[in-house]
Amino acid sequence: MLTLDRLSCGYGSVQAAHDVSLHVTKGSIFALLGPNGAGKTSTIMAVMGHIDIQGGSILLEGADITKRRAIDRVRLGVALVPEGRQLFSDLTVDENLTVGGYAFPASSDAAKRERVFSYFPRLYERRNQMSGSLSGGEQQMLAIGRALMAEPRLLLVDELSLGLMPKMVDLCLDALLALKREGLTIVLIEQNTARALDVADQVCVLSSGLQVYQGTAAEAKAAGSMFAKFLGMGDEVAPG
Ligand SMILES: Nc1ncnc2c1ncn2[C@@H]1O[C@H](COP(=O)(O)OP(=O)(O)OP(=O)(O)O)[C@@H](O)[C@H]1O
Ligand SMILES: [Mg+2]
Repeated sequence: MLTLDRLSCGYGSVQAAHDVSLHVTKGSIFALLGPNGAGKTSTIMAVMGHIDIQGGSILLEGADITKRRAIDRVRLGVALVPEGRQLFSDLTVDENLTVGGYAFPASSDAAKRERVFSYFPRLYERRNQMSGSLSGGEQQMLAIGRALMAEPRLLLVDELSLGLMPKMVDLCLDALLALKREGLTIVLIEQNTARALDVADQVCVLSSGLQVYQGTAAEAKAAGSMFAKFLGMGDEVAPG
């Protein structure tokens, strides 16, 4: 579904990720892990077309999209759930969903909205509420729902669990697993390594902009504290 071939990206003279190469299989969940400042957000921002690409290429289902505009990438089926959710806090749940579908004809809005509400019934109950007054977990559901309004084939999720209660993390991860069963491909950036490895098929670790580990989630789990070292963590937080 997605191939990064020696991708380097950054901000002017700052390089945030260097020579990242990875292959995300269609219908899988790919976890992108690593410590703060590793280049995780920058990598998916490059996939969205939001930051400078300094080298290498991005292929979506084999087609080179490296030079495509961000809006074209959305239309080709790439959507983002951004770090910090970035909702329009003074718009309602319904209005935020409308924004998510902006690149597409309004005629199909109702069906897409129904689909979002089927994953997140709470959003239906709160559809006329200002998004700024939702709980953190509900806001994350809305951020996912807003991305789904673009009917993506590839969903990029940045920091799903950050600041959420475990029950809310469960609800959001369950939704991602249900979406995967329907064929969606997901790249998941997560600080909660253990939860990420529970749902992911493949995993890649970035550190200081470099790719330091790549393998299956099962292999990463089996590696335990050895794997935790790639994340710059002590043994006490080893996954599994
Ligand atoms: N807007 C920006 N301008 C300049 N440098 C930036 C900008 N955003 C990020 N960087 C730098 O790029 C590098 C990678 O940052 P990035 O946000 O991609 O890391 P991350 O892995 O997502 O970290 P975190 O876990 O803290 O979210 C860091 O050195 C950071 O300082
Ligand atoms: Mg980040």
